[in-house]
Amino acid sequence: GTTLGASAAESGRYFGTAVAANKLSDSTYVGILNREFNMATPENEMKWDATEPSQGQFNYSNADRIVNHAQANGMRVRGHALAWHSQQPGWAQNLSGTALRQAMTNHVTQVATYYKGKIYAWDVVNEAFADGGTGARRDSNLQRTGNDWIEVAFRAARAADPGAKLCYNDYNTDGQNAKSNAVYAMVQDFKSRGVPIDCVGFQSHFNSASPVPSDYQANLQRFANLGVDVQITELDIEGSGTAQADNYNRVVRACLAVSRCTGITVWGIRDSDSWRASGTPLLFDGSGNKKAAYTSTLNAL
Ligand code: XIL
Repeated sequence: GTTLGASAAESGRYFGTAVAANKLSDSTYVGILNREFNMATPENEMKWDATEPSQGQFNYSNADRIVNHAQANGMRVRGHALAWHSQQPGWAQNLSGTALRQAMTNHVTQVATYYKGKIYAWDVVNEAFADGGTGARRDSNLQRTGNDWIEVAFRAARAADPGAKLCYNDYNTDGQNAKSNAVYAMVQDFKSRGVPIDCVGFQSHFNSASPVPSDYQANLQRFANLGVDVQITELDIEGSGTAQADNYNRVVRACLAVSRCTGITVWGIRDSDSWRASGTPLLFDGSGNKKAAYTSTLNAL
């Protein structure tokens, strides 16, 4: 293939990017998006603060712009994210206990129902585990409603949209460590008890402090062996030139070596689109030119 999406499709995979609704009027951005990618993840537009700014009042306008653009241009959509400690609307941040649990469940049900049939995979729960060596859940208002909040969210999502794959998504789980071990144990427990879960997302935000782990492929494989798909969901790698290109190549080869690794999403198109305050972590430069990292990614697909 001559594009990322077409090349990924040759092995039955997708190649996606985070998409920002306010950039859909940028012709350079849209040109690359439509040419290269066949999966779109709304970067912020499906988060709780965006879709339910006031309790019970849903606003899908910006998310719909992305979904409509994707559908019109042959891309599928990864939904991101139904339940997360971050980017909650103020009203939810101020809730706790039963009121928050009910609000969360209603949010999952409403959003997944609204998009029923239009989402390839949902990040149902994002970033619920703590960093470091404890393997504990992250403390959050959602966690304080009870340890079962994650399975409640997954069951609500399944009931609302039985056709969407349901993913757990996190960062610093890309290699084998205490945090990924804890996620692994949760997925194993969900599978053994019949809690609906279909996939695990590995954000894969890499930099010099958090490089591509040496056991990246082995970690993807051990999750796949639990009977879930794995996906690389928010890939970006700080750096430049050959070193960056080699890292992208290694990540892509790891996914392709795992049969249940169904696709890769980069977290933005041009370096200037990155959520990172500085640096050059993406596949296209600020002018939209292909970088060495683009070529090494394409060559690995
Ligand atoms: C980031 C977006 O890229 C930014 O625009 C926003 O200001 C903050 O969130 N993990 C996730 C993503 O799951 O939702 C985050 O996206 C990046 C880290």
